[in-house]
Amino acid sequence: MIKRVGVLTSGGDAPGMNAAIRAIVLTGAAYNIDIIGFRHGFNGLLDDDYQTLLPQHVQNIIQHGGTILKSARCKALHTPEGAKQAAEALQRLQLDALVVIGGDGSFRGALAIAEHYHGQIIGVPGTIDNDVDGTDYTIGFATAIDTALDAIDKIRDTADAFERIFLVELMGRHSGYITLSAGIAGGAEQIICPEFGTLQPDDLKTLIAPVQRAQLLRGKSSYIIVVAENSYPGGTTALAEALSSALGIECRACILGHIQRGGSPVGADRILATKLGAYAIEQLVLGANLMMAGEINQQAVLYPMAQTGAKKKQIDPYLVRWQQTIASD
Ligand code: F6P
Repeated sequence: MIKRVGVLTSGGDAPGMNAAIRAIVLTGAAYNIDIIGFRHGFNGLLDDDYQTLLPQHVQNIIQHGGTILKSARCKALHTPEGAKQAAEALQRLQLDALVVIGGDGSFRGALAIAEHYHGQIIGVPGTIDNDVDGTDYTIGFATAIDTALDAIDKIRDTADAFERIFLVELMGRHSGYITLSAGIAGGAEQIICPEFGTLQPDDLKTLIAPVQRAQLLRGKSSYIIVVAENSYPGGTTALAEALSSALGIECRACILGHIQRGGSPVGADRILATKLGAYAIEQLVLGANLMMAGEINQQAVLYPMAQTGAKKKQIDPYLVRWQQTIASD
């Protein structure tokens, strides 16, 4: 019988985490379950930093980015002592279960705690990177794309006016999901992401040839290359400088950075977060443990937490082929 459930948001915050917290609290209240919110991710377990969350605490938060519980990465959880201490906090507070909203790194932390904890643990995928297996989309991804797209559209205006080449760096840690999606939607001339292999200074000619063709044959006045972070040694600014000197044309780099993590969640993220937050509580009541609540083909599903980061989630191969063979030629 589930009576008390803890919840925390961990790792990089993502727009829609608040919507997930709200759904968890409202669903918990409907099942007469007390919901305890831990602040600053897993650190809240170690520091006894928590509060009871009632429906009145989650009013008017669905539209806000960030997370009312704050988020953090927790180094202490990487040690067996830290994981044990976190599990002891859950036992001491008589929590029957814990909901972890975060990415696969946060789920690894949850699994470490599970080795010492007698209650149930469930994950809700919240990260802009969409790099979690077992769900078509993670909470925050749709908003991050729209934020990146808004920036790319604006950069296009100035790139066009100045007839410049722009390199726009997007987030994604080691995944090209944001880059491919925002690049396609923004009509980027080229896309560079980890799935295409790490770009080395010697490979610059593969970037240069399509730029020259586009300028000569199509008379393009602006040219946007969307680049995933960690794609080039020295970073995207170094890549822009290398391109500038190779082409003899001014190339500018724009690093979008954490802007992609903020902002009001778009409708798709609010709906996904509400569905998965509610589903997580209902599945805990039915006995789910060490699973992640995901959505595949619009169906809420459970997926083993241990497998969420086991293999690299593939970006859309059709769009990759189209971008590389048709759009960038
Ligand atoms: O995982 C989300 C994310 O925003 C990644 O896209 C990015 O690589 C990383 O977090 C940045 O982390 P930090 O906020 O610690 O710089």
